Amino acid sequence: MNYSEGMFKDDVFKGKVIIVTGGGTGLGKSMTTYFSKLGASVMICSRKIEVLEKTAQEIHELSGNKVLPLACDVRDYDQVEQVIKTTQETLGPIDVLLNNAAGNFVSPTERLSHRAFDTVVDIVLKGSYNFTLCMGKDWIAKKKNGTILNIVTTYAWTGSGYVVPSAAAKAGILAMTRSLAVEWAKYGIRSNAIAPGPFPTEGAWSRLMPGKLREKYDPALKIPVGRVGEHQELANLAAYLASDFSAYVNGEVVTIDGGEWLKGAGEFNQLDQIPEELWDAMEMARNKSGSKLKMAWNYIKGMYKIRKV
Ligand code: HXC
Ligand code: NAP
Repeated sequence: MNYSEGMFKDDVFKGKVIIVTGGGTGLGKSMTTYFSKLGASVMICSRKIEVLEKTAQEIHELSGNKVLPLACDVRDYDQVEQVIKTTQETLGPIDVLLNNAAGNFVSPTERLSHRAFDTVVDIVLKGSYNFTLCMGKDWIAKKKNGTILNIVTTYAWTGSGYVVPSAAAKAGILAMTRSLAVEWAKYGIRSNAIAPGPFPTEGAWSRLMPGKLREKYDPALKIPVGRVGEHQELANLAAYLASDFSAYVNGEVVTIDGGEWLKGAGEFNQLDQIPEELWDAMEMARNKSGSKLKMAWNYIKGMYKIRKV
């Protein structure tokens, strides 16, 4: 068994309907592929219908299950309402909502126009609450249980320079996740989040490490386990949190980052830059001063005896 394999039984999502926003590319595509292999009917939506159709066809050929591609800008509530309706009519009642769509880029904050700030916050936060509100109202009205899973990042709670609109928006999603976990539990609706660290995707890599940054900066270097994430690892976690196996998990955010954010947070964690030889040298110096201390102690003892005599 290893972490690049699927961990679930083949029929975990048989008869289930799942929505994955931003499901045509990257991590959304990987999670959709796994849900579909596990028997789910999945609706994937984003702005580019050609990309979605290609992904849907590819996944359907792999799993034999229905994958419905629908164009939708998550920022527009009317479009969100429409794709939820079409999904119900085509695939049946929806069981799981996975808010995964996002927009992001790196920039010093003072260089951003207010429209740039709006763009990222609207895709990430507004897009997630549009789907959450529309889906939640529907589940509550129909007295149907539901599961919400939100993709955030570890800087949702640490914050991060140079991606401030994204950090602010992801923090908002995390607050919404925890708030609704309590408020909507009485309706049988669970709400959880996943905070991934670096997982290679074209969308994230091209925008967060543009041009020469990509050659100069290897994200694996600051990850304690020494590597970036594999998509199947995230898909395994998402499948667990989307499934009924996690029925008692509610309001949780699960970090999957190889220990990355904690490494940045711990006061002395950067000491792993110190080579063994330097530790050896420091130990020798310590022992040396230790023996000096011993001499000093004997001297003091000697003084004491002298005085005692
Ligand atoms: C500064 C920028 C910019 C940039 C766009 N803008 N790119 N400002 N730096 N790199 C500004 C534009 O000038 C414009 O403002 C405003 O933002 C809107 O730009 P548009 O191109 O019209 O927006 P749109 O076509 O809606 O595209 C949205 C996008 C784009 C976010 C800009 O990158 C996109 O489509 N992204 C989707 C996929 C994505 O980003 N995936 C990565 C997720 S990774 P003005 O004032 O000129 O009108 C992620 C990982 C997090 O979240 C954690 C990693 C560890
Ligand atoms: P990605 O492939 O760029 O995925 C983003 C998706 O969002 C795209 O499919 C995009 O499709 C869709 N999207 C963007 N704007 C939209 C809009 N207005 N309406 C509808 N859909 C929209 O990047 P990814 O790396 O897989 O990211 C997926 C999720 O993981 C995001 O929430 C991201 O913040 C999170 N994450 C990723 C990493 C990482 O290292 N990769 C780390 C932490 C968190 P269209 O362009 O067709 O609209």
